[in-house]
Amino acid sequence: MVPDSVLGARYMVELRNLISILDLEKKQIDHILDNAAKMEEVAVKRSKDLESKIMATLFFEPSTRTRLSFESAMLRLGGSVLGFAEAGTSSAGGKGETLADTIRTVERYADVIVMRHPLDGSARVAAEFSNIPVINAGSGSEEHPTQALLDLYSIKKLKGRLDGISISLCGDLKYGRTVHSLGMGLSHYDVTIKLAAPPSLRMKPAVIEQMKKAGVSVTEVDSVEEAVKDTDVVYMTRIQKERFPDPREYDKVSGRFSITAQDVSLMRDDAIILHPLPRVDELSAEVDSFPQAKYFDQVYNGVIVRMAILKMILS
Ligand code: NCD
Repeated sequence: MVPDSVLGARYMVELRNLISILDLEKKQIDHILDNAAKMEEVAVKRSKDLESKIMATLFFEPSTRTRLSFESAMLRLGGSVLGFAEAGTSSAGGKGETLADTIRTVERYADVIVMRHPLDGSARVAAEFSNIPVINAGSGSEEHPTQALLDLYSIKKLKGRLDGISISLCGDLKYGRTVHSLGMGLSHYDVTIKLAAPPSLRMKPAVIEQMKKAGVSVTEVDSVEEAVKDTDVVYMTRIQKERFPDPREYDKVSGRFSITAQDVSLMRDDAIILHPLPRVDELSAEVDSFPQAKYFDQVYNGVIVRMAILKMILS
């Protein structure tokens, strides 16, 4: 158990909800990343810091890492968890209850809500109806701010810094919510960004605009080969099959944009490959044995960063 003195440091920045990465100023992001580093020890030794708190996880969409790492984070801080992992088992899915009524109910059972929902804007709506903090664990194809924070933490931990980093965001940049939040989060730092996607899945202009406005150098490239060369971080993502209005459009791009062992041989020796996971065929299993493959280290960072987020919101 970690003594209270380790956790006693006052949280200088207050945050009620975490809906978009844009809700955070740079000093708040840095604060979360610094506190996440402190959580490395707490995660192992455990604490009772959030002993009196209950976290509700409302997952209207599938999840392995996000939900379980939030639960693991809360349990390591001594808190309790409840919730559902499938909309069908709740009245919202099975009986047609509105999101507003679901939130008005759950706020009476818990101290914080962690929600994933298929609709853009859903997390913001939930926060409007909620009297307890809401954390967005993925809203449609729009945003996934806690993933972006763990991605930033992973880059900082593995590369030692964020400023001066070059990063290639690859794969489904249109429907992938992780790259939207990460791109905007990276905009606070002195980074160079390459975007690599199939032509039909290019990054939304609004996100590119946001990055450029912040002074980030953004270039778009056409191939995985161009994306992996001369860069510190390759961030690969899955083609988001479930978001395609027309399955034939998915068939056109499926399996066409992937990192193989051949691509890794083009990378710098000290470059890293990250991926929010799950992967399908965009990241070949043969890549796993290369030293650049860091996506399973990234998974553990999800626990660490979510401990820091829960501590910040619930303290
Ligand atoms: C991502 C998501 O749900 O947006 N997964 C995750 O949270 N680690 C990425 C994906 O599903 O492809």
